[in-house]
Order: sequence, then C-alpha cells, then structure tokens
Amino acid sequence: MEKRKARGKFIAVEGCDGTGKSTQAFLLASFLKGFGIEAKVTKEPYSPEILKALESCGCRKESCLLFAADRALHSQKIEELLEEGFWVISDRFTDSSLAYQAGGWGMDIREVEKINAFATSLKPDLTLIFSCPPSASAKRMKIRGKESGFDKDFLLQKRAGCLYGLLARRGGERKIVDASADLRKVGARAREEVKRKWGLKKK
Ligand code: TYD
Repeated sequence: MEKRKARGKFIAVEGCDGTGKSTQAFLLASFLKGFGIEAKVTKEPYSPEILKALESCGCRKESCLLFAADRALHSQKIEELLEEGFWVISDRFTDSSLAYQAGGWGMDIREVEKINAFATSLKPDLTLIFSCPPSASAKRMKIRGKESGFDKDFLLQKRAGCLYGLLARRGGERKIVDASADLRKVGARAREEVKRKWGLKKK
C-alpha cells in the first residue's frame, strides 16, 4: 500500500506594503525545495471576484466581511494542499485583517477576530511578520511604482505596523523578521526562523 504523505505545514508571511514579503514568500519556497519539501505560494486577496468587489467597495464593514469571505475560500484551498502534503506559504492571512482593519482602520479587534473565526479555523504553524520603518517601505513602493490605493496611506501603514508588533508580542507562533536590510539578508533571517522551527536538515 502506498504510504500516505504527511500533512504539510502552513506558513503565513505578513507585513506592511513594501516590506518585500511577496518576494520573500517565493524565496522561501525555493529554499524549502533544497530540503525536498514542495511548497506552494498563495496570496490574499485570493478570489478574483472578491478582489473586484473590494476594489469598488467604499464601505469598511463590507470590505472587512469581503476579506473574511475571501479567506474562507482561500482556507479551503490551503487545507486541500496541506492534506496533499504540500507546504503552503500564504502571502497574507488573518493577521492582515487584524493589522489593517483593526489597526489601520480602527475597527474593534474583537469584532474582526470574531468575523475571521467564523470564516476559518485554520491557523498558520508559523507567521513571519516582515517589519521595517514605514519610511523605508514607502520608498520601496515608490521604486516599484506602486503607491496607489492602500499603499498610499502612510499613516494607515504605520498603524498596521504597530498592530503587527502587538500581535508578535501576543505570540502564537509569530516571528518578527527585520526587513530593513537588503533582500538577501532579510531572506537569510526568514530562513533561520524556518530552520529553527522545524530543525530542517539537507537530504
Ligand atoms: P497586498 O498583498 O499588499 O497586495 P499587492 O501585493 O498587490 O500590493 O494586499 C493589498 C492590500 O490589501 C494591502 O494594502 C493590505 C490590504 N489587506 C487588508 O486590508 N486586509 C486583508 O485582510 C488583506 C488580506 C489585505
């Protein structure tokens, strides 16, 4: 009988816009490959339909619910992949709603948590929070020519960054990765956290 593959691990990468988390998610996936681990990178917002609705949404409560609905769908996909034995690296997950909707927009964090608890019971095995001063991430966004929408609001990013800091102090398998250095150094820091967590050894 064919041996069933062990369930994969779930890593969330979080942080304010311009912290380089999306690039780091892909770097981490190729790093894991070196250990014989197949990792899939996914991203929120996940559903193209919900993303479209979010783009034209002017109501914060509705947006908060849309992010949660998106997460409910996304979680089903992540569960499937984990069951198949893949490791999943998600570019944003529940902590994004806590940081942006509660921290950034000032919504009641307990309400945001409740909505998200209804949307999904899935929890990352490890959350890497990429963190750098908002002035540094704003500069990166400018270089990438991506300053529109959410990214533009410097204060929002600052408040979201503070909330990420609070979440890291709460624990729950969250690690802050100092993202103020260059890509390679930041990548090495992220890899260290993953190696430490699972004691990875080359095959
Ligand atoms: P982001 O991953 O930064 O998109 P991109 O890589 O295309 O720049 O996410 C887009 C924005 O959505 C970002 O500013 C954070 C915001 N966001 C929330 O406010 N709440 C959420 O739950 C999620 C997932 C994202």
